[in-house]
Amino acid sequence: MSLPKHLAIIMDGNGRWAKVRGKPRTYGHVKGTRVAKQIITECSRLGIQWLTLYAFSTENWYRPQGEVSLLMRILKRYLRKETENLLKENIRVTVVGETSRLPKDVREALEKTIQATSRCTGLNLVFALSYGSRQEIASAVRALAAEVAAGNLPAEKIDEALLSEKLWTHPAPDPDLIIRTSGESRLSNFLLWQAAYSEFWFTDVLWPDFNQKNLHDALGSYQQRQRRFGRVETSNEKLPDQTH
Ligand code: IPE
Ligand code: IPE
Ligand code: MG
Repeated sequence: MSLPKHLAIIMDGNGRWAKVRGKPRTYGHVKGTRVAKQIITECSRLGIQWLTLYAFSTENWYRPQGEVSLLMRILKRYLRKETENLLKENIRVTVVGETSRLPKDVREALEKTIQATSRCTGLNLVFALSYGSRQEIASAVRALAAEVAAGNLPAEKIDEALLSEKLWTHPAPDPDLIIRTSGESRLSNFLLWQAAYSEFWFTDVLWPDFNQKNLHDALGSYQQRQRRFGRVETSNEKLPDQTH
């Protein structure tokens, strides 16, 4: 099997990484951002088409205000400093999540990066920011319900494809591989619908320690798997490479 078309990463463990070093959690977020930068470059170099990074969840808003505001500052600084490099690497940036909840300066920095890279044709880099999959599904259902209520959509026409189109992740394909660092084996409200047939790769490595070798190990493991999508392979029919 080849490279995943869409790789998604739950970048977890920044706080614990800092704690074992006797440093504040935010120190881990700063190092974690540097790692994200390297992994983005490596994915681009490898020719991966889609990379979604879970950077901040809906539930992360409940963290102490000091940590939240520092995360927002780190994000803004990253966008300001990195936009030029992203452009050079032909990386197109988009975002999924409730971005209206982000501070105005972060929203503006984000908008600038999205605009500046909108014509790039290489890696599609998607930041999941203020993202929650249940909120995303609820918003898709609301949009469909509004169309039904307006008389523009017969309810019986609603199917998986139509719902997928209303998700914030549209038009990205479903993730083929989801990596989560830091030893946790859960989705934490990330891409619940989209992960129906994703492969998972978990590692105890904390995100600030994650490196190229870990990424290559995950991709190597993915390449050895057989994805069946509920089917069986027969002598005259190969297994599909997607659900539909
Ligand atoms: C992931 O690291 C980054 C964000 C959620 C923003 P954490 O901050 O969750 O670090 P741990 O899991 O507490 O170690
Ligand atoms: C998931 O990590 C969110 C991100 C990595 C951005 P969390 O640290 O928030 O998840 P839980 O609380 O361990 O489930
Ligand atoms: Mg965590």
